[in-house]
Amino acid sequence: LRTLLLGGTGFLGGHCTRALLEAGHEVTVLSRGSRGPATGAESLVADRRDERALATVLEGRRFDRTVDLAAYEGSDVERLLRVPEASLGRYTLISTGQVYLVTRCPRPPYREEDSRYTYDHANWQYGIGKRRAERTLLSLASTHGMRVVILRLPIVVGEEDASLRLWAYLERMLDRGPILLPDGGRRPVRFLDAADFARVVVRLVEGPMPPGNIYNLAQPEAVPLRAMLEQIAAVAGERPRFLEASWEDLEREGLERAFSPFAGPWASHLDPSRARAELGFAGTPVEEYLPRVTRWTLEHRPERSHPGYAQRSLELAIAGRLG
Ligand SMILES: NC(=O)c1ccc[n+]([C@@H]2O[C@H](COP(=O)([O-])OP(=O)(O)OC[C@H]3O[C@@H](n4cnc5c(N)ncnc54)[C@H](OP(=O)(O)O)[C@@H]3O)[C@@H](O)[C@H]2O)c1
Repeated sequence: LRTLLLGGTGFLGGHCTRALLEAGHEVTVLSRGSRGPATGAESLVADRRDERALATVLEGRRFDRTVDLAAYEGSDVERLLRVPEASLGRYTLISTGQVYLVTRCPRPPYREEDSRYTYDHANWQYGIGKRRAERTLLSLASTHGMRVVILRLPIVVGEEDASLRLWAYLERMLDRGPILLPDGGRRPVRFLDAADFARVVVRLVEGPMPPGNIYNLAQPEAVPLRAMLEQIAAVAGERPRFLEASWEDLEREGLERAFSPFAGPWASHLDPSRARAELGFAGTPVEEYLPRVTRWTLEHRPERSHPGYAQRSLELAIAGRLG
């Protein structure tokens, strides 16, 4: 099948491209060209926010399937559907569990401080943009007679993850300093193996249309973050000392939340039971995929640190005070 992957050169796009090529499909990736595509894929370079550039590379092109890993706004979807004479086939939009997290608002009556800028402004924008992309796709699907599926993902863990979130913890384990764990890491998390995600995309590309439009994907079990970190440490052969601290105390000390990227409130916790029932999605258990990805990361140590590591000396000073 001829497949178009918007964002096919990124972390998840790379996993999908390789899996689709291995399954014998033709893959065309579209990106702004900051990274090259996997060997064997056709590359189109355009900024999808630039209507003319998008039309230049896609006008008249015909695909059996489109997987959109780079729509962050409703207008991203609209612009794509306006490309003249382009045929996208069945369309899968990759969305996020953050759409569930952008529904809170301060309780009225509002006070002056309710409108202050918060550390998580970018996360709100991201979740709201994705929700708009979903809504736009669903409404255009009915007017264009398109068949669409939306996959909502939590934090994805896998090889080649340029966000370096797993490395953020590994690097601290390897420097052998204590690791501050907001709220003790007791909060259960439910991530997703990137390889599982790619398998679902291949199945959606090849198989019949599923009965529903929207599916959550996530690992089968909810596990406290601390237990996941202990598994990572065991693979690395390290025995880190975890120190509990509240987000409020850490914030008062001036530590930015980015230091612990798996621990924040923006890690969505999704129920994948509909995908299990209707897509036959089982999900690889944590104890199987986490050691695999940890070993890969240790064998391919990034040359740079996760951005939150820049505050490591402050963390160590706080840890010293906590004892
Ligand atoms: N990674 C996760 O844990 C996670 C979790 C939930 C949902 N998701 C969703 O999954 C999708 C893929 O995530 P990812 O982690 O693989 O992201 P990523 O590594 O940042 O990849 C993004 C891809 O989109 C391309 N891109 C971005 N803006 C573009 C534009 N304006 N025009 C054309 N191409 C553009 C990038 O290439 P260029 O920069 O070269 O353009 C790259 O190929 C995203 O929609 C994300 O919201 C990811």
